[in-house]
Amino acid sequence: MGRIHRLPLSVVNRIAAGEVVERPASVVKELLENALDSGPTRIDVSLEQGGIGLVRVVDDGSGIEPEDLTLAVSTHATSKLRVAEDLEHIGTLGFRGEALASISEVARVVLRSRTATAGHGASIEVNGGQMGEVTPEGCALGTTVEVHQLFAHVPARRAFLRAAPTEWSHASEAFVRTALAHPSVAMTLSHNGRRVHDLVAADRWRTRVGGLYGQALADRLLEVAAHDGEISVHGLVGRPEDDVAGTRLQHLFVSGRPFRDRSILHAVQEAYRGVLLSGRQPIVFLRFELPPDMVDVNVHPAKMEVRFREPSRLYRLVLSCLRTKFLISDLRTPLVPPPELPPYSAAAGAPPLPAQRLETGLAPWFGQPERTEVSRPWPVAAAADQIADPAPFLAARPGPDLRPAPAQVPQTERAVQMHDRYLIVETAEGIEVIDQHALHERVLYEALKASVAAGNLEVQPLLIPEPVELSPADLEVVTEHAAALERAGLRIEPFGGSTVIVTSKPVLAGNTPAETLLREVVDRLAALSAGADSGMLVDEVLHSLACRAAIKAGNPLSQPEIDALVRDRHVVGTSHHCPHGRPTSLTLSRQELDRQFRRT
Ligand SMILES: Nc1ncnc2c1ncn2[C@@H]1O[C@H](COP(=O)(O)OP(=O)(O)OP(=O)(O)O)[C@@H](O)[C@H]1O
Ligand SMILES: [Mg+2]
Repeated sequence: MGRIHRLPLSVVNRIAAGEVVERPASVVKELLENALDSGPTRIDVSLEQGGIGLVRVVDDGSGIEPEDLTLAVSTHATSKLRVAEDLEHIGTLGFRGEALASISEVARVVLRSRTATAGHGASIEVNGGQMGEVTPEGCALGTTVEVHQLFAHVPARRAFLRAAPTEWSHASEAFVRTALAHPSVAMTLSHNGRRVHDLVAADRWRTRVGGLYGQALADRLLEVAAHDGEISVHGLVGRPEDDVAGTRLQHLFVSGRPFRDRSILHAVQEAYRGVLLSGRQPIVFLRFELPPDMVDVNVHPAKMEVRFREPSRLYRLVLSCLRTKFLISDLRTPLVPPPELPPYSAAAGAPPLPAQRLETGLAPWFGQPERTEVSRPWPVAAAADQIADPAPFLAARPGPDLRPAPAQVPQTERAVQMHDRYLIVETAEGIEVIDQHALHERVLYEALKASVAAGNLEVQPLLIPEPVELSPADLEVVTEHAAALERAGLRIEPFGGSTVIVTSKPVLAGNTPAETLLREVVDRLAALSAGADSGMLVDEVLHSLACRAAIKAGNPLSQPEIDALVRDRHVVGTSHHCPHGRPTSLTLSRQELDRQFRRT
């Protein structure tokens, strides 16, 4: 007797559901796409427990006729395609007629809808594939879909879900991607009753990007546009100095659809090569438009990838478009005059803010406080002297050394700076070439780590707290990790909307503006996998602080600064590599030199 048999429909459907619904983020994406296909002006999304408990999407689009409700949640039923040829020029986000059926198979789905022509609306409930009756209901124009308790009946799938915060972060990313692709629709996102995004309908892409990531970031982006025949690309890209730690701010869209594409991102990397610090990522938002027959969107079960008929044309278009933009733009960072020193008078009785002392054994100039943050009991005259000093134009550059001269560097360790980035040191063993940024980063990191561990981190209260406008998603990150930030010396307080104020920073962070530090930290924390313990979080914050506060390649250093840095590598234990694992120095032994010059 044969052993092959046809699977019951319920099993077929559940297998199909596995391809469409991976986690709450997939539900958010599918429901948003359905809502967008209905031509709405507004969509409201609410989630509970990261979307595991509930995903609700409400739109004011065309709605569904009562007699179509059963079909809407049935497999292979769609209003968007009729014949196979329609697949050649898909104009909607949906086309398979699969999403609602798949979701209904693995959750409890309530669908309510009313069209403009129907006198009343109707609803249907499907629970784990069990379809209920269509019930007339008075409801607003448009459609509401609620997905309750995802995978409640499918323990094997539920086991693969991560904790609510992780699922939330994936789900909100899905919202962000879709919202970026459709700026003309007003959209909101709430989580556990709290409004996270409130996006107005915008006719400019920059407005939508600003709504999601903060207007300050959006305003700095460069506009790019180019076309090659019928293929065109438009977008907003970051200046090289606005680089970020991860790829979170790289978004590609084709005909209203977010997609991933390694080849195009490679072209982006190529365009930025040489103008971006290694290991950093550019910000890019690119929209492609091309005739439907030149792109196949039906190649990935969750429609995350697309296939282009001529991928190399897109590669060249992106590369040349960005390169041309960089050639014609002035990418130099403008010199901004240092902020005014607030009036300070001993008579007014404003005592210098106390800074807790920390003895790290580091050179005095590390962590010189900003001139605007008079923290040491300097005489007023000394502070006034500082106002006349023009040096701190170089933001990351340590200020002048006001404390006692460092101990003499041993004669065997004379050092010189080359190309404003390498320090060449004569050591007892030979010659050491030091990467000044990598070493300083390591030294700062070790010092920060040691003082946090010892509980005596020197914290600098800011005389003028610095407001920082964050994207709502970044605000979440900051709020969630406020404790880790505070342990690392960055104290953050809410300031209304998605703006926070930074009220203190670690003294070791030196002149680096609090905003720069906070943005770096947020990027890295957001990129960190969920489930990181508090120690890892603090460590990540310290890494970010050290990276941002360290002197950069290209900064000329004075001889005392060079000597101090060279000497401090002996203070920290592991200075051979920067916290990212790059070497901080290369050594050429005397023996090797002698051998090369045939002296032995
Ligand atoms: N928010 C909505 N507004 C109006 N109609 C909707 C909405 N959601 C679903 N529908 C209707 O239900 C049908 C089935 O939706 P479903 O998402 O399952 O399939 P699809 O969107 O056609 O294709 P895909 O599986 O690729 O998403 C749609 O074709 C559409 O007619
Ligand atoms: Mg759909």
